[in-house]
Amino acid sequence: MNLLAIETSCDETAAAVIAETGDPAKPWLLKSNVVASQDAIHREWGGVVPELASRQHLRDVCGVVDRALDQASVGWSDIGAVAVTQGPGLLGSLLVGVSFAKSIAWSRGIPLVPVHHLAGHIESLVLEHGELALPSAVLVVSGGHTSLYFIREPGRYELIGRTRDDAAGEAYDKVARLLGLGYPGGPIIDRLAREGNDRAYAFPVSRMTHADRNQPRATAPPGLLPPTLARRVDFSFSGLKTAVMRVVQTRAAKPDAGVADTAAPRASNLAPGDVADIAASFQRVVVEALLDRTFEAAGWLGARSVGIAGGVSANSRLRADAAARGAKAGLPVFVPRLSLSTDNAAMIGAAGLRRLRAGVTADWDLNAEASLAL
Ligand code: KG4
Ligand code: ZN
Repeated sequence: MNLLAIETSCDETAAAVIAETGDPAKPWLLKSNVVASQDAIHREWGGVVPELASRQHLRDVCGVVDRALDQASVGWSDIGAVAVTQGPGLLGSLLVGVSFAKSIAWSRGIPLVPVHHLAGHIESLVLEHGELALPSAVLVVSGGHTSLYFIREPGRYELIGRTRDDAAGEAYDKVARLLGLGYPGGPIIDRLAREGNDRAYAFPVSRMTHADRNQPRATAPPGLLPPTLARRVDFSFSGLKTAVMRVVQTRAAKPDAGVADTAAPRASNLAPGDVADIAASFQRVVVEALLDRTFEAAGWLGARSVGIAGGVSANSRLRADAAARGAKAGLPVFVPRLSLSTDNAAMIGAAGLRRLRAGVTADWDLNAEASLAL
């Protein structure tokens, strides 16, 4: 059976065709994966403009779906189900995909499967590598989310840690903006950091400790992790962003500026070496924070594998350091190939087939949901 998947939750219009293999260990085959990126449109604004994103989805969706069918060498009569991202994401963007998928399912008389965007990121690992050795600790790290899941059975995702403020990808994008680099910031900082000294700046990493005054409740369900560890596996990146801002302001201030010169220091005053050092030092702290928590939780929970998915899993240092830690801990570490790391519809197809086989389909009143629990 072939399934057509559509993803329009943010600024990528994507469609893919996924087939079932009949092999329980490697259940799905990627037949095509087409992504129309809107980066060039949003770059001008330094971030995604929701109204522009939904309008561009409308322009692109027909052509992207046609190309996905073409590249898979299938026609409409070969498609047995349609999966679509229901949420979370930008409402106007999600609505384009949901309406389009509904129309196809209704006119072809085939099932419609609603998919959670993060389930898609998690199942990208299974699409690529086959079923993970369970239990598994899977980190989803993207522009909108930084969430750690514990998976004991296929298709059931228990949230055990999440960011309290900014997502890691958001921190990359904001720091890139502070440094006067482009959008999206992740790939640019990744590249630049290779030329910098990652110990040049000692940026702090926030930890949720028992010394916190308004002690936050842990994200993990009670009893799964010991209380101190349960709080420690939550993430926080907004303080790091502020620390980078302070360094940029100090380094970019002209030493000979008089009292009257009150213009804000600009990133363009930084020497290129400084920018690379800041990028490398920032990246080291982010990667350490992500991997410390993931491996600590994985070890405690007796995980048999570790997965890392989502746009930030494309990061070269995160990949290299995760592999090194996995080797040291004797834990296999899985990441998706680059084209399955950032937003795509193939992962939605994988999660869609999982749900379809679990008996989940949507009615015609399916609505897009900007916030949706997994
Ligand atoms: O999963 P994704 O494509 O979209 C969301 O669901 O948010 O993730 C996009 C995020 C952006 O913040 C982008 O800067 C980040 O992933 N990203 C990276 C890299 N490539 C993309 N971050 C760090 N290093 C990269 N190589
Ligand atoms: Zn995503």
